[in-house]
Amino acid sequence: MQISFYSGNLAAAQADVLILGVFEDVWQKAAHVRLVDRALGGALIAAARDEQFAGKQKQKLVLATAGKVRCRRVALVGLGREETGSAATMLRLGGAATRTARSVGAKSLVLCLPFAAADVTAHLCEAAARGLVLGGYRFERYLSEPSRAPDVSKAALAFVDGGRPLAAVKSAVSRAQAIAAGVVVARDLVNEPGIEVYPETFAAAAKKLGTSHRLKVRVFGALEIEKMGARLLLGVGAGSARPPRLVHLTYAPAGGKSKRSVALVGKGITFDSGGLNIKPTGGIETMKMDMAGAAAVLGTMVALSKLSPKVTVHGVMALAENMPSGTAIRPGDVLRSAAGKTVEVNNTDAEGRLVLADALHFATTLGVQHVVDLATLTGAVKVALGPSTIGLFANDDALATALADSAARAGEDLWRLPLTETLREQLKSDVADMKNTGDRFGGAITAALFLREFVGKTPWAHLDIAGPAESTVEDGAYAKGGTGVGVATLIDWLAS
Ligand code: BES
Ligand code: MN
Ligand code: ZN
Repeated sequence: MQISFYSGNLAAAQADVLILGVFEDVWQKAAHVRLVDRALGGALIAAARDEQFAGKQKQKLVLATAGKVRCRRVALVGLGREETGSAATMLRLGGAATRTARSVGAKSLVLCLPFAAADVTAHLCEAAARGLVLGGYRFERYLSEPSRAPDVSKAALAFVDGGRPLAAVKSAVSRAQAIAAGVVVARDLVNEPGIEVYPETFAAAAKKLGTSHRLKVRVFGALEIEKMGARLLLGVGAGSARPPRLVHLTYAPAGGKSKRSVALVGKGITFDSGGLNIKPTGGIETMKMDMAGAAAVLGTMVALSKLSPKVTVHGVMALAENMPSGTAIRPGDVLRSAAGKTVEVNNTDAEGRLVLADALHFATTLGVQHVVDLATLTGAVKVALGPSTIGLFANDDALATALADSAARAGEDLWRLPLTETLREQLKSDVADMKNTGDRFGGAITAALFLREFVGKTPWAHLDIAGPAESTVEDGAYAKGGTGVGVATLIDWLAS
């Protein structure tokens, strides 16, 4: 999608549809609404009354303009109350704009944000532009009859006062394009079924993307993983006919101008059957998405290479398929990790923390200042925070705060949860240094406490994305399926 800016009179803007983002209550007084309503002889506000449009979140109204303004159609998109004038709201607006345009067959749109040009911040504009691109996302590879609605290929952003954007706001659009491209990488991988995306093919995709984006690529096969002593990763993959992989991508800024270096670590379970602790019907069907953490890491690496920030970033992906078979690990097995600690596997369905333990240890050997992992780690985090919020755990308050600020600027929902020390004893084992699973209550916390054992003193944060990694509804900038959640937050943290 090509995105530009439009300044001047909205009635003269040229596109298939003119879309106005409006806040609840105050929308009739907003300059963009008044201008278009006047041009339409009062028909816009009259139609809104008839349709009981009030600017509430998710409300929209589409109206034919009969030639009275240059666009054939005008649409209002409700944003809810003004205090929700956040990046999340702008992301939602962008997504709704593209989807509304497509629903009426429009190939081009002008989206007027509910802000004056001088008031809009770069991150609000970035979110709106990212929403525009991502609202057009579809995954239709396997449909014999793809939907016929054409793509919205051209969009322009405008402001209520008809003003021109500041330079920082202008460059936010190219940032949005880079981030959206990374999000699409993540979404596509999550949406691909497990029969196509397994450790070897995921690693091949990472190698291809990494190489074409000038990243350093290393792929470790089963033998090398064994040599590393990463028996937890090996063990989780042992039940599958498809052996595990560890992928290490490196982004380094040109000319050695690196100010800091960090590692991102992703859980890449290409299918999580649960292993011998097999998941029941109702829990297993969506488990091709269990590599969303690794997919977000890869998407972030791709976006980074387009943005060229002055920071060295390692992307580590722990890839395995968790399957039950005669070669699978058993409940009660004791495995030695790359870090040297032994683990009693009391539940083979708590496999994410096992592969991450080895990958986190690997990451800490890279001499980085921070390690951040992303993982669809626990059902418990969905119980705690709901389906659309990232759970954040960290052993470092400054890092936690920085990531929470980045999530807010990126428009992603995130909430910090505690590493409750008293729950640590649930991971004590009689036969090994620790076991991999605690009680049901506080399950997201014990999972995070397990991970913490493998990062030593390195400042570390863990993003449990089990809720928002996949969406069951089409909503804002999300389509059904993989969301690419985490990419935008990480890019904000790394590149701003
Ligand atoms: N991949 C799952 C977590 C998950 C659940 C992700 C729902 C997305 C949606 C993870 O490997 C898992 O199975 N966790 C178990 C842990 C338990 C065995 C301690 C869980 O959450 O039930
Ligand atoms: Mn599992
Ligand atoms: Zn899992």
